[in-house]
Amino acid sequence: MAKNLSLLDKSQIEAYLTSNSLKIGVVGIGRIGLPTALCFANSGFETIGVDINTELVTMVNSGDYPLKDEPGFAEIFENVHRQKKFVATNDLSKAVPECDIILLSLPTPMDDKNIPDYTAFLSVGKSINKLLSNGQIVIVESTVEPGFIENELLQTIEGPNHTLKSGVDFHLAVCPETANPGEIMKDFKKLPRLVGSIDEKISSIVSQIYTHVFGVEIISMPNCKTANAVKLTTNVFRDVNIAFVNELALLFEKLGIDIYTVIDAAKRKYNFQPHFPGPGVGGPCLPVNSYQYLNSSKKIDQNFLKIVQEARRINENMPQHVIDLLVNAFSELNKQLDNSTIGLLGISYKPNVRDVQIAPSEAIIKLLNAKNVKLKIFDPYFMSETVFGHKIENSISDAIIDSDAVIIITGHKEFEELNLETFSNSRNKPILVDCTGKINPKDAKSRGIIFRGIGRGNYI
Ligand SMILES: NC(=O)c1ccc[n+]([C@@H]2O[C@H](COP(=O)([O-])OP(=O)(O)OC[C@H]3O[C@@H](n4cnc5c(N)ncnc54)[C@H](O)[C@@H]3O)[C@@H](O)[C@H]2O)c1
Repeated sequence: MAKNLSLLDKSQIEAYLTSNSLKIGVVGIGRIGLPTALCFANSGFETIGVDINTELVTMVNSGDYPLKDEPGFAEIFENVHRQKKFVATNDLSKAVPECDIILLSLPTPMDDKNIPDYTAFLSVGKSINKLLSNGQIVIVESTVEPGFIENELLQTIEGPNHTLKSGVDFHLAVCPETANPGEIMKDFKKLPRLVGSIDEKISSIVSQIYTHVFGVEIISMPNCKTANAVKLTTNVFRDVNIAFVNELALLFEKLGIDIYTVIDAAKRKYNFQPHFPGPGVGGPCLPVNSYQYLNSSKKIDQNFLKIVQEARRINENMPQHVIDLLVNAFSELNKQLDNSTIGLLGISYKPNVRDVQIAPSEAIIKLLNAKNVKLKIFDPYFMSETVFGHKIENSISDAIIDSDAVIIITGHKEFEELNLETFSNSRNKPILVDCTGKINPKDAKSRGIIFRGIGRGNYI
């Protein structure tokens, strides 16, 4: 039977921690939940991962693992697998009743109207209403809007007839995950964690447990909604600042100014934080988090955060700008884009990860499909797979050869080796559009390449 930690004092909890006698459940073992579960298991706690994805459950139980793009993940996975401290299941009812702590690391996407979609949370909340009993602590690790935990999740877990009572039969807490894909294992060891709860005592218990497992600074939050607001604020800050540099990029292209030269010099002032332009802002976090804040404002019948609305509009328009740069390069050669062959390098939403959620590449591909362009796409993380309706090539050269133009969308480390000499020798007047800022425009021009880059005003 699960332990009711809320009845224990600090030293009793310490005794459970040092003897590894807490049982942990993690519901949702994806990009964030699985590494989190493994950290608990690696600290010596028996840990159960629950996921609706049967294939994933079978895979991890057999000793194979996803997240091969996550440095340091293989080591911890293999160590935990050897020690048999972690097991995955599809069955929530096998995990929840016996776990003392239940972490929710469920997806929080948005629907096609950009409204946050909490279906997974509400479905799990409804199910665990029948499974919780003895004052277990449920910790929300996912990114949700301020107020969602207090106003929706709590009621869902209590049930329509209040068969459970928060603060008695279960306790709700929050510890939003802030790790960065591609750096998750490193971030787990270094980033501070925000901990909040509906009840102060639960906050301090959760802080004690997270300190034991992760050994990082804990920032105490007065409640759940403030912790969620901190998480959203850090991400929306980035979305808005990227929109600012994206719009500067558009201006500088017209004024003949190079944005990278400007950012490089500006960052030498102590209070400037560099952000960089690009083909848009994707991934499961930044765009969704901006819409989560906008939804919070809408829910109280307010039209706050116009700056965030505008940032979204600017960032969502960047794929069209990439096409405009491409068309502009074609016009220098008096050529039409229609019916040409275009090579695309990188489809992930950010460098060095295997993830195409809300990736700007999808919008770029749709715009090019509408022009009847033949596409040859390469991304080292998706070789030979079919993504966005296109078979991904096996090498950079397969995507470049026979293409009238190449667009570098994602700055994967593999593209740093792109040999401009070979590229320029492979055809007459090759076109290169760089969305990453990694290509030196002078080098490209000196090799006879028709070069365009976002914000590269000097070179258009
Ligand atoms: N990926 C990131 O960069 C990142 C970083 C910080 C925080 N977050 C937040 O963490 C949360 C999880 O994100 P993620 O990237 O790990 O998502 P993910 O899609 O990689 O993982 C979610 C997992 O939950 C499972 N799942 C879905 N519905 C379920 C259900 N009803 N019952 C059990 N399992 C279910 C899915 O099968 C999947 O394996 C989100 O709120 C996200 O915003 C993500």
